[in-house]
Amino acid sequence: MRILIIGASSYIGARLYLDLKRKFEVVQGTYNSNPLLTNLIPLDARDSASMMDVVKRARPDVIIDVVANPDAKWCADHQKEAQDINVNTAKNAADAANAVKAKLIYISSLAARNPVNVYAKTKLDAEAEAKNAKYGWLILRPGHVIGMSPNTVNERYFNNIIKDAKNNNESILDSSAKLNPTWVGHISEVIAFAINNNVYGAVVPIVSNALRSRYDLARDLFGKFGFKLLPRDEHRDTFGGLVDDSELRRLRMPTYSYPEIIAKVQSEVKRNYPSLVPAEQSRREDL
Ligand SMILES: NC(=O)c1ccc[n+]([C@@H]2O[C@H](COP(=O)([O-])OP(=O)(O)OC[C@H]3O[C@@H](n4cnc5c(N)ncnc54)[C@H](OP(=O)(O)O)[C@@H]3O)[C@@H](O)[C@H]2O)c1
Repeated sequence: MRILIIGASSYIGARLYLDLKRKFEVVQGTYNSNPLLTNLIPLDARDSASMMDVVKRARPDVIIDVVANPDAKWCADHQKEAQDINVNTAKNAADAANAVKAKLIYISSLAARNPVNVYAKTKLDAEAEAKNAKYGWLILRPGHVIGMSPNTVNERYFNNIIKDAKNNNESILDSSAKLNPTWVGHISEVIAFAINNNVYGAVVPIVSNALRSRYDLARDLFGKFGFKLLPRDEHRDTFGGLVDDSELRRLRMPTYSYPEIIAKVQSEVKRNYPSLVPAEQSRREDL
């Protein structure tokens, strides 16, 4: 099974690239501005001819499209550009998939279920584009993604908290809006399951049956490591409420409970950042 990952330099895409390489023939990954991993090739996915060229050379059976600008404020301030990066790239991916008879797996967002802002609208529109992949499409909607990625630099929730801890800084986190947490490794597992079992034609939320604020989630993840975490009520809205894993279950895909994803991410932190974990606690955990 030949896999092409568009946006393999992203926080989520880089993790998918490494996880899926262990299970499939990942023939190519692309980046736009950040050549994060060796062997990635450059691609501006807004350019349909470049997308077609990369896809025709890679001859994938499955294309995984992770491209977006996920910064909601940036999208609100740059609506035309947001449309171009978040929607037109998905159209180009679907067209290119059709040209080589590949299936398309599009990484969307839970935000698409409740398109109250420009970012969310572009994700929903991109889903519609992805559904034009006529040899098979699968749309995955992660919630608030946590966990280790080879991309440690992008300004993502998990990366930012690790950065603060390394610099011995406090992490100040919103305690108002409640989000559905998703473990990044769960996305890889769902994709592997879909490819192995030929599960397409569905829109699947990848969630852990929990709703937590950024602060509460950080406390559950990092409190035991002694990270300095401070709540701040930013009076943000909770959009949409709890999403359950019934679609994952219906499709017999892997599921994880909230305590399980917390344990997964904590063990990633211990493995990758041992200096951030109190030695005494690691020993106790090992018993
Ligand atoms: N992180 C989350 O909590 C979360 C939650 C739900 C859904 N998602 C979705 O998951 C996907 C990845 O999110 P992320 O957090 O990993 O984002 P990210 O780290 O900001 O990565 C965005 C990716 O898009 C690429 N890109 C941007 N413009 C491009 C262009 N013109 N052509 C080709 N590639 C381009 C970037 O490449 P370069 O960096 O090389 O420029 C990067 O690989 C997005 O679709 C996002 O909507 C994320």
